[in-house]
Formats: sequence, structure tokens, C-alpha cells
Amino acid sequence: MSITKESELIGMQKISEVVGTTLKLMREYAKVGMSTKELDEYGGEILKGYGAKSAPYETYGFPGYTCISVNKEAAHGIPSEKKILKEGDLINIDVSAELNGFWSDNGGSFVLGKDIHNHQPLVDASKNILRKAINNIKGGVKISEIGYLIETEAKKSGFKVIKNLAGHGVGRSLHEEPENILNYRVKSNRERFKKNTTVAIETFISTRSTIAVELNDGWTLVGNKGGYVTQHEQTILVTDKHPAILTESNDIWG
Ligand code: CO
Ligand code: CO
Repeated sequence: MSITKESELIGMQKISEVVGTTLKLMREYAKVGMSTKELDEYGGEILKGYGAKSAPYETYGFPGYTCISVNKEAAHGIPSEKKILKEGDLINIDVSAELNGFWSDNGGSFVLGKDIHNHQPLVDASKNILRKAINNIKGGVKISEIGYLIETEAKKSGFKVIKNLAGHGVGRSLHEEPENILNYRVKSNRERFKKNTTVAIETFISTRSTIAVELNDGWTLVGNKGGYVTQHEQTILVTDKHPAILTESNDIWG
């Protein structure tokens, strides 16, 4: 959305702090032996405590308050009593919610406990690429330029990007214009980031796959060629200098 007055900025700051804090607390709460359902319910209670509504649950009919994707799941993992977290699991939590008509979105991948499967290099690449991408965004920068940066940095780290998942405008709804802030360059896309708009920037960095495909449950996405995918996401305010990271309370940089 385009921020035109102080009250809109305050609204976006508030919900962004809520989703950021929820993500952080969930990450800290995750333990070996816990089900993803228990972790999700913990997150759902935090959102409720702030008076915020889970975006996937309320708006999309998603069977959970947050998306929790484990190991081969790339995104939109459904919280379940049957999914028990194990040492070394690659976990992604994505929290998006609405408060007073404002929406914000953030997410992050991490390794649970000891990194016995060596997922950390993928997690670190995703984190660092998101940081670099955000540092290069200001009003007037082409969206395709940031896609190019993400793709190039992924390649440099020995990884690929998922091409059919993307960042997006956010604010008055969860997904709004610009609709596709892709992780690669589409040369024909002449859209530019605009000063004073709020957007969700998200990386989808992958070991093998380049396309995310949906499982039969109608939600869970996995890579088309297997392997692992990591995502990190922040909602930011575009300025003419450094963007303001509205969801920084998530502490995903570590
Ligand atoms: Co998200
Ligand atoms: Co998003």
C-alpha cells in the first residue's frame, strides 16, 4: 500500500511488530518432540492476545494460524499433531496477520537444535541474500533488478531460486500490487519500487528445485525436483534511502 499519512504508518508498524514478535517467540518455543500443531497453537494465541487475526486462517481458510513447513516442505505446510519436530529439522515458519485493517507478513527458516543434516549453509544464504536485496531497494529501483540480485547471489552460493513464489505488496490486504516480486529477473518487467509503499520481500532459495508444486492436501508446496528450500521474509517501507524494516522484531538475522 501507499503510505499517505501518519496513522497508516503507525497501523503498519503495529501489525508488523505483532507478526514479527509472534515469529520470534514461535522460533524460540520450537523444541524437539513438539508437534507443529502445538507450535501453531502457541503462535495463534499470541496473535489473539494482540487482537490480531491470522491472515491464512481468517482469509484463506488455511487449516492453521501460521504456516509451518518442515524439511522437504517448501511453503504452506499445514500444522499437524502427527508432525513431530526432530533434531536437525529444517523448519520454516511464516506469520501473516491483520490488525485494524492493516496487514503484515514475515517468515524465516532455521535449523532445530544441532545441524546434523548440514542445512545451515542454505539457511545462511537465504538470510544474507534477503538482507542484501532489501539493502538495494529504494524508490525508483526496478523490481527486476532485485530479482536479478537474488538469483545471482543464490547462484554464487551454489543454490537455485524458486521461480513461482514471490514477494508482494502488502498493507490493506495480504497480497496487493506489486503482485510478483520474483526471485529472478524478468527483463520485460519495467515496474519499479515506489517510495512510501509497503512491500513484503521474500527469498526462496533452493538446493535442487526451481518450481514449487502443490501436494494433494491442496496447500503444502514442495520442490519439483526435491531437495530443500529456505525462505526469509520481511515487510518493509520503501523510502528514498534505506528501507525501514517494519517486521524487524522477528530478529531473523540472528
Ligand atoms: Co509470508
Ligand atoms: Co509473503
